[in-house]
Amino acid sequence: MANDGRTGATCGPGCACSVGNEFGERSARHDLAAYRRRGPERTTKWLIEGLAVGGVDGLTVLDIGAGIGAVHLGLLAAGAVSAVDVDGSPAYVEVARAEARSAGVEGAVRHEVGDFVELAPLIAPADLVALDRVVCCYPDMEALIHLSVARARRRYGLVYPRDAAWMRLGSRAFNVVMRLLRQRTRAWIHRTADVDSIIRDAGFAPRVERATLFWQVVVYERT
Ligand SMILES: C[S@@+](CC[C@H](N)C(=O)[O-])C[C@H]1O[C@@H](n2cnc3c(N)ncnc32)[C@H](O)[C@@H]1O
Repeated sequence: MANDGRTGATCGPGCACSVGNEFGERSARHDLAAYRRRGPERTTKWLIEGLAVGGVDGLTVLDIGAGIGAVHLGLLAAGAVSAVDVDGSPAYVEVARAEARSAGVEGAVRHEVGDFVELAPLIAPADLVALDRVVCCYPDMEALIHLSVARARRRYGLVYPRDAAWMRLGSRAFNVVMRLLRQRTRAWIHRTADVDSIIRDAGFAPRVERATLFWQVVVYERT
């Protein structure tokens, strides 16, 4: 069990920490080293750029499943005033906190450990909400999208797998390997139409859409 945020919530079975082995210390250190070598991934850069169109001076950020914190660190560097990082992995939150310290923005970031779906009632709305490669780690897409888009005041951006035959095939193969290795991590390819309709129903329209072979990056704006 872990809780180093201010919500008082704990991280137990059923929360994203239950995949702690997979999003553990080793993986966090590996991602941090890659970030320091090359900066954010290409799709993460697109997400930051899409959220920052027109400027982010004075805006607040909610970064769900932030990993080492690339999205909120990028937005803070662009002028955002503060950020909340909610991640189910204590190891990633520890690294994100240290990275915020080295970037000199420690005082502008609040870190919460736990499953966002469980913590959502305790998390305040933000101008910009980001989910970078998080939807694919979580089985209950509807709850994750509903609760997170409800906290977005201006823009809502996500990076998630393309809804394509080769991705479904790949995720099935990946999940078989994970099962054989007795790992709990699963990759979920949720239907783009389902994700998109929840976000539109919440009053948003897509403004930026980009894709690689595997990922789609979509930034929505409140209409
Ligand atoms: C694949 S990693 C992506 C990390 C980072 N956003 C990036 O793109 O490098 C997924 C992250 O989302 C977190 N996560 C998954 N589901 C979550 C949930 N429901 N609530 C909070 N964090 C979650 C995991 O702990 C992990 O740190």
